[in-house]
Parts: sequence; C-alpha cells; structure tokens
Amino acid sequence: MNKIMINGPTMLNGDVKISGSKNASLPILFATLLTKEKIILNNVPNIKDVEITIKLLKHLGVKIKIYKSTYIIQSNKVSKYSIPNNLVISTRASIWALGTFLTRFKKIKLAFPGGCNIGLRPIDIHIEGLSKLGAIIKVKDDFIQGYVKKKLKGVCIIMKKISVGATINIMNAATLAEGTTIIKNAAKEPEIIDTANFLNMLGANIEGAGNYKITIKGVKNLKGGSYNIPPDRIETGTFLVAAAISKGKIKCHNTKTDVLDSILSKLEESGAKIKIGINWVSLDMKCQRPKSVNIITAPYPGFPTDMQAQFTILNITSQGKGTIKETIFENRFMHIPEIIKMGAKVKIKKNNIICDGISNLLPSEVIAKDLRSSASLILAGCIAQGKTIINNIYHIQRGYENILYKLKILGANIKIIK
Ligand code: UD1
Repeated sequence: MNKIMINGPTMLNGDVKISGSKNASLPILFATLLTKEKIILNNVPNIKDVEITIKLLKHLGVKIKIYKSTYIIQSNKVSKYSIPNNLVISTRASIWALGTFLTRFKKIKLAFPGGCNIGLRPIDIHIEGLSKLGAIIKVKDDFIQGYVKKKLKGVCIIMKKISVGATINIMNAATLAEGTTIIKNAAKEPEIIDTANFLNMLGANIEGAGNYKITIKGVKNLKGGSYNIPPDRIETGTFLVAAAISKGKIKCHNTKTDVLDSILSKLEESGAKIKIGINWVSLDMKCQRPKSVNIITAPYPGFPTDMQAQFTILNITSQGKGTIKETIFENRFMHIPEIIKMGAKVKIKKNNIICDGISNLLPSEVIAKDLRSSASLILAGCIAQGKTIINNIYHIQRGYENILYKLKILGANIKIIK
C-alpha cells in the first residue's frame, strides 16, 4: 500500500482551486436513477467515492461518459437491479440506492453500506421514513431487503434525529411518490438544498430544502437536464486550516462562502484575518501562531463534524487550551492516538477532545484510519519538524481531489512513496 511522505515544516502560502463537493455529487449521482432522460453534471470531483459510485451505476447498465469533470449520464436501459457487495461496502453513499431503487425498480437487496468507521452509523431513520412511504423493508443476514407493492405514497414524516443521509433518501423517494410528503426535523445541510435543486431542475416539486420542514409534492416523472455541482465546503475549510496552522496565507478560489460561516468564525477567533469575495475566501495568519478555540460540532448551520479532526490539529498546535465536543459521531477520534505519536498533548474525556497547544509537532510514522482524520494527519505532517510518513493513502483519495498536488503548489514538500 502506498504511503504519503511529508518533509516539514512549511509555511503554506498561495492560491488553491476548490473542487466539486463530494457530499453533493454522491446523492445527486444516485438521484440520476430517478429519470430515464439524459443528465449532464459539471464540476464532479475526481475522487474514489465518485469512482465507486460510477462503477456501481455502470454495473446496473447506466451509460456514463466522462469528460474531465463533466459526466453525461443516462439510465434509460438499466439491466440489473443488484449491486455487488464489494461496491456497496466501499462507500457510505450506497445507502442512497435504497430510496432510488425502491422508487425506480420497486425492490432492493443491499449489503450494509461502508464508509468511514466513525461510529455505529445505524440506518433506522432511513428505514422508518421509507417504510412510512409504503415500502416493506426487512434487515436480515447483513442485508437490507425491500419492495414496494404498487407505488410509494406521500405522508408526514417526523424524523426522530437529524440525519443528512435519511433526509436525502426520503426526499429522493418522495419525489415520484403519489401525493405530498412532508419531512419535519429535516437536515439543513447545503448538500440537501443541492439535491433538491437538482431534482427540481428535472421537474420535481420540492419546497423548503434547507429548512426544518421540506414539502415534496409527488410528480409523475422527471426529465433530463444539466447541473453544476457546488464547491466542496469541507475541502475549503481543510485548506484554510492547513494555512492557519502553518502561520501562512492562502486564497481559495472557486468556492462558495455563504456556507462557511461556522468555520470562518472559528478561524477568525483563532486570530486569522479572513476576507471573502463572490467565489473566493482568503486567510492570512500574518506569520502568527493561531489561538486555541472551543467548538461543539452540530448539524448545519452548526459547526460541521467533518471539520472536527482538522480543528483538532489547530488546537494541538495553538497557543492555549481548547476543547472540541463531538456530538454527531461517537467514534470520531481515530486521529487522536496518531497525533499523540507526533508529540501532541491531547486527551479524550467522554466526547470532548481537550488539547494543550504546543509549538512544534514531532515527525513520526502514523496511520490514516478515516477520511477526515487522514486530512488532519496530512495537515499535521506539513508543519511537523521533519519527515512524517502517513500509512494508508486510500482514505484521503476517497474524498479530496488532488490534495497532494494542491498542497505542493502551496509549498508543501509532500509525495507518495511505496
Ligand atoms: C453525512 C455525510 C458525512 C457527515 C454527516 C454529518 C455524506 C456521504 N456523508 O453522513 O460526511 O459527517 O452527514 O454531517 O454526505 N443516525 C441514526 N440513524 C440513522 C441515520 C443516522 O441514528 O438512520 C445518526 C448517526 O449515527 C449520526 C447522526 O445520526 O450520529 C447523523 O448522521 P447522518 O447525518 O445520517 O450522517 P450521514 O448521512 O451518514
């Protein structure tokens, strides 16, 4: 397995172009199954999770042509209704086969989806919601099996906990259901709004995405169309933190700033000078070490759990003591034992990550165990005093397009080794 080698420390300075959003492209790719017409998606990121999803769609018989970041997709002649287990367990996104398969094929047999091992990640809210719409779903022998007798029927669903994945699954299925579906306590993440905008562009009737209540009036069928995948807000946040901990200066281009409030306010609190334009954001640390921040992760518009590991590195190398409370996933602490190997003064108390900032990280050999913890270890490697080796390159490739190349442009001495 390839490894990443970083020779630090480097002050990261320069410009970076942000890629399309992972968490918007994956549900939208699954939603393309809801129409037989041609779909064009622009700005799709070249990452492993997208590659696996494309393999999965191609396995069904969906025709897909790829020109750089533009994907032309048509699923008028789908010939298979099952997905090989190895693809399902390779990505969390495969959970979205549930809503789309039950709508399009009226049946599904799916292994348990994979993805990052950051907690139990149950699927009860997905199953409850789709069952309320009329699907009959059983979980047996590590498979989710389901069917729909006639047609899914609109209903009011109050989600017992906010779930991004379940909101999307229910919304996708309700789009072509009979009658009106109301989702209450829906997730408000920007990626929900994008999935709804994409479906509305195809002729769906969805109102309220991004709010507590989403209303979906079922339509008979969807047409084709073209959609631009928005920039990745977590990638933007990751590069901003990378520059902040290196006391550097960065300008992120091709990004969207109105979805970054909670991240930018914590960076400003840590001492960063932030400027924003229409599609760019810049950060300048003026060669100063950041100050620690206290954070509680929460559903959007709260602070994203997907930025917790990166801000842990910020607190580890900042002035002062900072605490991050992780409230979304119960096991999202994989980066902690690894960063301790680099000399970090950090402990976990219940779901709190308590850091005592130190000025220098030591080089070490560490293991990347999930996507965001991989990103955090790469950031740590860029500022450590010497050679850091990060084992298991796979996770970072799942969610960040060209991250090594982009960091190199910013000055990092980073490469892949065997
Ligand atoms: C999505 C994102 C992930 C992000 C997360 C929270 C994708 C591909 N992944 O994951 O990057 O970290 O949102 O912003 O978009 N839960 C249940 N039962 C369910 C579903 C969820 O108890 O049926 C719980 C989860 O265990 C977790 C919480 O609800 O504690 C939130 O999970 P959810 O929002 O569903 O996360 P994902 O959609 O898996």
